[in-house]
Amino acid sequence: MATMSWWSNAVFYQVYPRSFADSDGDGVGDLGGVRARLPYLKSLGIDAVWLCPVMRSPMADGGYDVSDPRDIDPLFGGIEALDELIEAAHGLSMRVVMDLVPNHTSDQHEWFQEALTSPPGSPERSRYIFRPGRAASEPPNNWPSIFGGPAWQQVPDGEWFMHIFAPEQPDLNWENPEVFADLEKTLRFWLDRGIDGFRIDVAHGMAKPPGLPDMADIAHGMLDLDDDDPRFNNPGVHAIHRKIRTVMNDYPDAVTIGEVWCKDSTRFGEYVRPDELHLAFNFKLAEVHFDAEEIGEAIENSLKAVTLVRANPTWTLSNHDIEREVTRYGGGAIGVARARAMMLLTIALPGPTFIYNGSELGLPNVDDLPEEVLQDPVWERSGHTIRGRDGCRVPLPWSGTEPPFGFTTGNSWLPMPPEWVTLTAEAQQSDPNSTFALTQAALRLRHSRSEFSGDLDGLSATDDSVFFRRSGGLSVLVNTGTKPIPLPAGEVLLASGPITDSVLPNTAVWLV
Ligand code: NOJ
Repeated sequence: MATMSWWSNAVFYQVYPRSFADSDGDGVGDLGGVRARLPYLKSLGIDAVWLCPVMRSPMADGGYDVSDPRDIDPLFGGIEALDELIEAAHGLSMRVVMDLVPNHTSDQHEWFQEALTSPPGSPERSRYIFRPGRAASEPPNNWPSIFGGPAWQQVPDGEWFMHIFAPEQPDLNWENPEVFADLEKTLRFWLDRGIDGFRIDVAHGMAKPPGLPDMADIAHGMLDLDDDDPRFNNPGVHAIHRKIRTVMNDYPDAVTIGEVWCKDSTRFGEYVRPDELHLAFNFKLAEVHFDAEEIGEAIENSLKAVTLVRANPTWTLSNHDIEREVTRYGGGAIGVARARAMMLLTIALPGPTFIYNGSELGLPNVDDLPEEVLQDPVWERSGHTIRGRDGCRVPLPWSGTEPPFGFTTGNSWLPMPPEWVTLTAEAQQSDPNSTFALTQAALRLRHSRSEFSGDLDGLSATDDSVFFRRSGGLSVLVNTGTKPIPLPAGEVLLASGPITDSVLPNTAVWLV
């Protein structure tokens, strides 16, 4: 039996703050915007909000480059805006979890600025990973940065510093005790202000292997990483998570959710042992096609990964780094139908579920953003060959008939497609057949019906259907094929599309 706590079965909603709702007309979403929309999230059925980084940042990577981890960026409304948000969310019995970025800082962080003006070998440099090159103009090893180009940048005195992501995100040296001491301060700072936990960025990345050996194979997609990639999943990372957990244990109600890209189930499970992270993101379901066997395997492997260590599984279909599911499943009406079916499948699984902002509206990726508006560092770093993640970060359409659809009173930081007029929250809230209405109905049932309890059993995933039961009494069928499937016996609780005596292709049904 996995741990029971508020988060063990919670519905989390991921807010990408720049894109959710703008309260001050500068075209960028902010915490005032999130606070104003809390009633919307409450009515949707959300238990907890996860905020992508809102700490002080020059925004070289949308806030994942933190220059002061114990302050909120003025772009998002400053620290008072967070206090107000936490208070308002708690008033509505919702929790607030924030992103924490311990693998790297911004190059504008005072530590890194001190490192740049200090000599090689100095204590200031030892907070980061500075090394001499292999030759005068050759980096210390062959590691590529996730965003393209080498993972090293040379400074004027000849040394190189490591940046697994952008050069504006130098990696911290976790062998230096000052680094954990500072993170502990950050953890306590936010927990003492009432935050309910943290999503930990690159939680599989902080420890680096001794000697920083070359990578055997450097041809990888951004998130298509092998488990033997020396940049990630090094054994030393677990000692760091144990230290973080020691601090978290002083706040027994708070949760940590690690971003862990690790294919092997046993190794994945190690991150959620009882003295490490509470939860870890499992991306298996977000990586599969709309294919019964692939979906079945993803569910089985996700459960296997956590069962041995008695942790809870987590489920998600998308986030701010991944193409939106409507587009991934084929786009257009089919993409929407499949995304709706997968939404029902995910919400029916045991354990916490994470909904990325806009999934409840069935938003597609925006793949035709003009090149001049692209902001993801991947675009520049790849020499304009990879457009990056802006297409899944386009602001949310709230109301009205033309862009920016109530997102802002100014100009939205990324342009919004005029076709989204039918997808606004306002339009969908009054349409009983909308994706919003489906998500809301699904979450109401999940929260209120006892059938959504117990383990998963009877999982079968053949060529064209996924079927499983919850021991509490719910049955779930998803038709991933091209022919109708006879409706199983039982009372239909909810379906993602029209149901007769059969379940049509690209449709999911819940029965009791
Ligand atoms: C993972 C985050 O989800 C992503 O958006 C970010 O670019 C990298 N970590 C670097 O912090």
